Amino acid sequence: MSRASKKSSGFKCQVSDFPNQSEITRIVDSVIRGRRSVRGFLPTPVLRETIIEILDVAARAPSGTNTQPWKVTVVTGARKEALSRELIATDLDPARDAEHEQEYSYYPDKWVPPYLDRRRKVGYDLYGLLGIAKGDREGMQRQFARNYDFFGAPVGLFFTIDRIMGQGSWLDYGMFLQNVMLAARARGLDTCPQAAFTKYHRIVTRHLEIPEGEMLLCGMALGYEDPDQTENKLSTEREPASTFTRFLE
Ligand SMILES: Cc1cc2nc3c(=O)[nH]c(=O)nc-3n(C[C@H](O)[C@H](O)[C@H](O)COP(=O)(O)O)c2cc1C
Repeated sequence: MSRASKKSSGFKCQVSDFPNQSEITRIVDSVIRGRRSVRGFLPTPVLRETIIEILDVAARAPSGTNTQPWKVTVVTGARKEALSRELIATDLDPARDAEHEQEYSYYPDKWVPPYLDRRRKVGYDLYGLLGIAKGDREGMQRQFARNYDFFGAPVGLFFTIDRIMGQGSWLDYGMFLQNVMLAARARGLDTCPQAAFTKYHRIVTRHLEIPEGEMLLCGMALGYEDPDQTENKLSTEREPASTFTRFLE
């Protein structure tokens, strides 16, 4: 496992280098709006140089006192397949599954509106598209297990953080993750961020030889969208800014 060491500067490219502000707005907004979680990928490989380019640009994310808390493991090929095999077998076997638990809680212990409603809606919409009926636990579980095959993507990214880092660094990390997804989109690639791996952090860290001092935050599928996959027809809603913003003058 090797990590790139060449330092990069962000000063070379300023927004002012571009002639047309409205064109920049249009392109940047369309990249942000065009990002979505893709759950069906083509097997087309992604060049290593492209992955490095994406991570280099993503690392321009801000972080408190420039601590840059991100650490990434990229997994492809036989290593990815071996990991997927063990994860799927564990997920589909209740006895093996019971031996694993989350290391951190991503979701609230108690779900309340409006989060509960939003969560339900995206679940029903996805399962509805796939023809999985409400209450079809087996169908839902089979679909969920596709996480562990990275939804067919040729590249799996795993994001870890030094355990000594504080909550603020998790905030920084989110900005880096969004940058990864946007930089991928800007290159015609798609992603699906995946917290599904965190339950099996012991399996992931063993396969990927992640040091004990690092915690697994999430995984991410990276690749080219398969436009024929029904899952990819899912479109998710957002509340408009006026519903979550206050102006005090
Ligand atoms: C940190 C994080 C973890 C996520 N984990 C999963 C996951 O394990 N599996 C999955 O299918 N989607 C996962 N998602 C995707 C969300 O369901 C998705 O972002 C949300 O429904 C909004 O849809 P969009 O990303 O297409 O805009 C995750 C998203 C984030 C930000």
